[in-house]
Amino acid sequence: MQKTKIAPSLLAADFGNLQRDVELVNNSDADWHHIDVMDGVFVPNISYGMPVVKAIQKHATKPLDVHLMIVDPDRYIKEFANLGATYLTVHYEACTHLHRTLQAIKVAGMKAGVALNPHTPVQLLENIIQDIDLVCVMSVNPGFGGQSFIANTFDKVRALKALITARGSKALIEIDGGVSTANAKELVAAGADVLVAGSFVFKSTDPIATIKSLKA
Ligand code: DX5
Ligand code: ZN
Repeated sequence: MQKTKIAPSLLAADFGNLQRDVELVNNSDADWHHIDVMDGVFVPNISYGMPVVKAIQKHATKPLDVHLMIVDPDRYIKEFANLGATYLTVHYEACTHLHRTLQAIKVAGMKAGVALNPHTPVQLLENIIQDIDLVCVMSVNPGFGGQSFIANTFDKVRALKALITARGSKALIEIDGGVSTANAKELVAAGADVLVAGSFVFKSTDPIATIKSLKA
């Protein structure tokens, strides 16, 4: 079995010391840099856009896992490819033609991810799971860091794992929101492949050790 991947969310980084926090992730046991882009329309918050992603990319040495919480993501697929994104994740709820969007992400040379809000059932992916490289299961309502983990995520992850196995899909399962050592073990047992953690990492006194503890 593949070891669980850890993707620290830079949303919780100190933006006045962004280079320092990106390098912290470079020098840790983390696997990816998780980058949250919010537009103030799909979610009730605005995080950062292309210039900041470019600044992150300049210093990052690990794959960029870009999570778009924006409406009409198709408009920006090429730009994120040019910014060096490895994974580009769009929200199921923001895509009218999800299949077309995923194809466009792959044509642009990236891996295609789909994020599900807490209320969106995994069964809705039944007819597209084979085309997805990563499913991001939101374990909080998207828009803010530091929220409490929603407990029914465990059942959702188990159901998603069963769907992926039944359909012979290679999609990775990523969990995003309220992740900590209090739920990491159960999430991995349920089928999670990638854990995103923002506050738990960057608000801790020793982020490098915290990343190591999640990885363990
Ligand atoms: C929430 C973002 C998350 C967020 C997680 O909308 O998608 O990636 O940064 O933050 P924590 O780990 O603090 O819940
Ligand atoms: Zn995220």
